[in-house]
Amino acid sequence: MEAMKGAIFDLDGVLVDTAKYHYLAWKKLADQLGIDFTEADNEQLKGVSRVRSLEILLELGGIEKDELEQSRLRELKNNWYLAFIKDMTEKELLAGAKEYLLQLREEGVKISLGSASKNAISILKSLNIYELFDEIIDGTKVANAKPDPEVFLKAAEGLGLKPNECVVFEDAQAGVQAGKSAGMYVVGIGTKENLPEADEVVAGLYQLVKS
Ligand code: BG6
Ligand code: MG
Repeated sequence: MEAMKGAIFDLDGVLVDTAKYHYLAWKKLADQLGIDFTEADNEQLKGVSRVRSLEILLELGGIEKDELEQSRLRELKNNWYLAFIKDMTEKELLAGAKEYLLQLREEGVKISLGSASKNAISILKSLNIYELFDEIIDGTKVANAKPDPEVFLKAAEGLGLKPNECVVFEDAQAGVQAGKSAGMYVVGIGTKENLPEADEVVAGLYQLVKS
């Protein structure tokens, strides 16, 4: 890796503790559809778009639904998810997230979001960190879901940087793959067992904050 000039952050599970609410909302839908769905199954949905997540859930249950019904189910899940996060404040930021963003800004590193979520902008605003981003690439701006590298390549382009000048911060297997396919250095947030393809793994951004 060249010196880090750009940092590209996934949102859910990296900056904010929303991964649990995505899981709870998918779990509620799975229960309603009679699909057995565990937290281990949920690893496959992390980082993946809403459309693809539902497809995976239906595949797990061996159930087929037409596009109209799928769109109704996605809306149902998203409404439950939005109800879970409606009163979200800065308290839901993961440990060290804001401090690390501020540290990078002080070091002159450009910052982008690289998230599959279509709810990203409203979440960043509720968390009071929207202003810290030079670029935001979210689920409304990409055609191909992670593990496709599109989201990260667009983020680098938006920052005016080459892929190998950017570092990706990701908690999902699909996101780590996307970052590697984009030709970027990837810092996994989680455990080595969960994210074996990451270049390095930390438990949380708090480990990267200089004291
Ligand atoms: C990703 C999450 O960041 O965004 C996934 O890891 C989620 O769990 C995806 O499905 C899409 O998010 P949203 O908010 O558009 O449903
Ligand atoms: Mg994530």
